[in-house]
Amino acid sequence: MEHLLSLSRAARLIGVTRGALQKKIQNGEMPSFDGTVKVEDLLAAYPDAQLENNIEFDRVRHIKERAFGKRVFERALPEAEVLAARVTELSTELANSQTQVRQFNVLLDRLRNRLGEIEGQCKDEMKSAMADFRAWLKDEASAAMEPGYLNPLAVRDSILRVMAAHVRVLPSGHDFFIDGQDSILEGALRAGIPLNYGCSNGNCGLCKAKVVSGQIKKIRHHDYVISETQQSQGYVLLCSNTAMTDVEIEAPVAGSVQDIPFQQISAKVKAIEPLSHNMALLHLQTPRTSRLRFLAGQYATLQLGKSLSADLPIASCPCDDRNLHFHVRRLPGNLFSDYVFNQLKRNEVVDVEGPQGEFILQEKSPRPLYFIAFDTGFAPIKSLIEHAMSLDAAEAIHLYWIGSDVDSIYMPNMGRAWADALDNFSFSSRVTGYDLRAVSGKRETNLRAMLEEIIEGRPDLRAGDVYLAGPESAVMVAENFFLGLGLPKSRVFSSLV
Ligand code: FES
Repeated sequence: MEHLLSLSRAARLIGVTRGALQKKIQNGEMPSFDGTVKVEDLLAAYPDAQLENNIEFDRVRHIKERAFGKRVFERALPEAEVLAARVTELSTELANSQTQVRQFNVLLDRLRNRLGEIEGQCKDEMKSAMADFRAWLKDEASAAMEPGYLNPLAVRDSILRVMAAHVRVLPSGHDFFIDGQDSILEGALRAGIPLNYGCSNGNCGLCKAKVVSGQIKKIRHHDYVISETQQSQGYVLLCSNTAMTDVEIEAPVAGSVQDIPFQQISAKVKAIEPLSHNMALLHLQTPRTSRLRFLAGQYATLQLGKSLSADLPIASCPCDDRNLHFHVRRLPGNLFSDYVFNQLKRNEVVDVEGPQGEFILQEKSPRPLYFIAFDTGFAPIKSLIEHAMSLDAAEAIHLYWIGSDVDSIYMPNMGRAWADALDNFSFSSRVTGYDLRAVSGKRETNLRAMLEEIIEGRPDLRAGDVYLAGPESAVMVAENFFLGLGLPKSRVFSSLV
């Protein structure tokens, strides 16, 4: 039987992104069958993949971990029991394969003997043809037993199957891996797949899903009760179980903002850190039992006490739904901003309501992604970029950060770190020298010239998806500029921050 690999598995085995594989398929450089690729085609498309060592094998995962920081991707080995189950499954497969090989060898011997008997009964040309055929069969059988015949990808795939379980979601077709001691839900969120869930803690039942095939293991107690009938049908809580083997589950995936419920959560201030002299990072942490479910690029309303509130884009990734980041600008006279900069303390309660907004990633788009952030527009763009990295599907990601002044580009190291860590990422920044909240006249001409310069450096931008975020006056100029270039509205997305 042909060995078919899902795109996620193939990407991990070769050490490239899923986006890179998708590009090869789109360009006709590698055939695919229903979202899978053949091992032979994969090896033909990547003949130089360094399969003999583990450096490339772990490369993509490592650069993503560096890009995200350890907090999100703290990895550990799977539990001993899970490892034992996976090794047992592989051992059973190995024993079955060995039995089959022995039986095939016996069959081969009998075939050779039978051919010898027939050869003895043949005459002249037929006898010589039979002799040639027997010699050919012998050579082919010997060649197949040579160590060099071993498929290096199959070896690597076996290692991968011990270290990480592969999960396929039906009917959407999404797939992802579960590393370390993650639950199935955690694995999905890290991979940027918004499965349905609520508390993440075994209380609400919203993550209930049906296991269609494969073995799972309960790793956390849950209070939510699944009826015996549903248990017998294979229903489990994804937040309380992990996968022992590769599994298929039936579970709904949020496809639009309408699929995410509006939530009200009381979070606590984990930290307030200066990002520049007029920007602060507000890090909120939700209770374990009540996290904010949102899509990258959306915003939330923060309420401080009874009278202070602000709508702010969520600057962190939905893959870490407990730790919510917001970028707060110092605006003297603005009561919310003044309170954050002058009075807000660690552990103070902040009520979070949301999510809202439709500035989200078009995940199914095969086009390269262009992000242009103006000043604090970096906050929703950061969330989108981290989500795009989780999905691992983007062919290329380009980030341009245009600031009113040097201080307005308040996290330049993050853009540089992404560019250093990821082959398909580029970053550059520009400073206008004027306030991007008031762009008109000469300033507009100047901003358009800056955008022209970006286009000159990246003529392929016309074929990409463009995400713009920042103050209204700058975003409007940019939106009109790109629409004026002929980009359709369906490929230019804007968020006013
Ligand atoms: S998310 Fe609430 S029970 Fe799993």
